[in-house]
Amino acid sequence: MKTIACYSIKGGVGKTASAVNFAYWAAQEGLRTLLVDLDSQGASSFYFRVRNPEPKNWGKRFFDSAHPLVKQIKESDYDHLDILPAHESFRNFDSLLHQQGGKHNQLKKILRAVKSGYDVIILDCPPSISFLAENVFAAADAVAVPLIPTTLSQRTFDQLLAFFDQNNYPQAKLRPFFTMADGRKQLHLDTAAALRKRYKFFLKNAIPHSTYVEKMGVHRTPIDLFAHASRANSCYRALWREISDSVALGEDNHSKQGE
Ligand SMILES: Nc1ncnc2c1ncn2[C@@H]1O[C@H](COP(=O)(O)OP(=O)(O)OP(=O)(O)O)[C@@H](O)[C@H]1O
Ligand SMILES: [Mg+2]
Repeated sequence: MKTIACYSIKGGVGKTASAVNFAYWAAQEGLRTLLVDLDSQGASSFYFRVRNPEPKNWGKRFFDSAHPLVKQIKESDYDHLDILPAHESFRNFDSLLHQQGGKHNQLKKILRAVKSGYDVIILDCPPSISFLAENVFAAADAVAVPLIPTTLSQRTFDQLLAFFDQNNYPQAKLRPFFTMADGRKQLHLDTAAALRKRYKFFLKNAIPHSTYVEKMGVHRTPIDLFAHASRANSCYRALWREISDSVALGEDNHSKQGE
């Protein structure tokens, strides 16, 4: 089982759009997939039409034990894809984690407890470097970081790299990729080229700026369901394949099928 986080310090950069399409493609490939919506805004739960859990302050029990967590997992409309929806109390995750003893491996521990049912867990994360984010860095095998190719994004990415260094998280976990890229904008082209030159580990595939990604909110489905032939759809599919290959997910799946 592998855990892949969609994470950025910045808000509004395409974490949720990516988590939704990655989870969809993983499930389409036959991987038993769990999408965990860690953001109290509940955007990925919304895209998959899954309702927020009812219990008040459910977030308080999130890190306690697997049983209450497993009870909140919902089936999606798609084969092999389950969703752990967000809850408004998730906005208190940082203080909850501190109450639990302030350890960095709380999320990893609780995900390990549910992992046997899944081949891949995808985390849709809220923005910012918080204590929750550190738990995400510890839990994830790969951290997919969407970047709009602009100067400010470059700056925040440098901050993330510095944070990883200072806190001994392996940079090898990072899978940065460009999104909302507009080939008509010289700034986008120049920034993407400069970043690719500086950091060899940027992913090859990128997501263009696309009205179809915006329309996911109208259709409340992954892009494939309403714009199968679009470039954004094929780019998300290729990007997912690149990420899954980079954590050898396909191999896990092949060996499972060969068992
Ligand atoms: N490739 C794209 N092309 C055009 N619009 C996009 C693209 N990716 C995302 N968007 C739009 O940008 C907005 C933010 O995207 P999204 O919600 O995925 O970002 P986020 O990083 O999860 O935001 P938050 O930090 O608030 O959770 C949404 O309106 C989404 O439709
Ligand atoms: Mg989001």
